[in-house]
Amino acid sequence: MFALAYASYSTLDSNELDLESLASHASTKNATLGITGYLCYDHGVFFQYLEGERQAVLDLMEVIAQDSRHDLVNKVELGEHEKRVFPDWSMRYLNRSDLRCVDLENVLEHSLFHMDPKLYGQENIVALIKALVANIAARQSHLNEV
Ligand SMILES: Cc1cc2nc3c(=O)[nH]c(=O)nc-3n(C[C@H](O)[C@H](O)[C@H](O)COP(=O)(O)O)c2cc1C
Repeated sequence: MFALAYASYSTLDSNELDLESLASHASTKNATLGITGYLCYDHGVFFQYLEGERQAVLDLMEVIAQDSRHDLVNKVELGEHEKRVFPDWSMRYLNRSDLRCVDLENVLEHSLFHMDPKLYGQENIVALIKALVANIAARQSHLNEV
């Protein structure tokens, strides 16, 4: 099972983007291609995780990359895995409140422990961590209420 992830900037305003219909069309098509994963959108940025048979994923990625609704920023091939991570999601759209349930601190911890500055560049790591911390900070008032 091959996986890849990418980030892209939306070329449309959020009110022009019909995310639910984009995701439902993607989900129907992915089901026939044997591709699973999820799609997030927040503040003009897409993040998508795709997994499936290697060639099927690469072919679909080529189609997605051509889509004028976004501009690809960075694509990362995550290699072969024994099992699917999201066997039940032919393409799950995760909205902001879904994402709030994700434990960002785990991501932060992982980045700090595993990102080698020689490989990733110190500035990039610092930028990532700052973005994650800012994300958590932005949720402070929400977290305080709990
Ligand atoms: C951010 C983004 C994510 C997309 N993800 C998928 C996807 O997972 N599967 C898919 O079939 N199409 C996806 N699309 C749409 C494709 O770019 C393309 O429009 C679609 O596959 C064409 O479908 P068709 O062959 O039925 O015309 C995505 C588009 C965008 C902008």
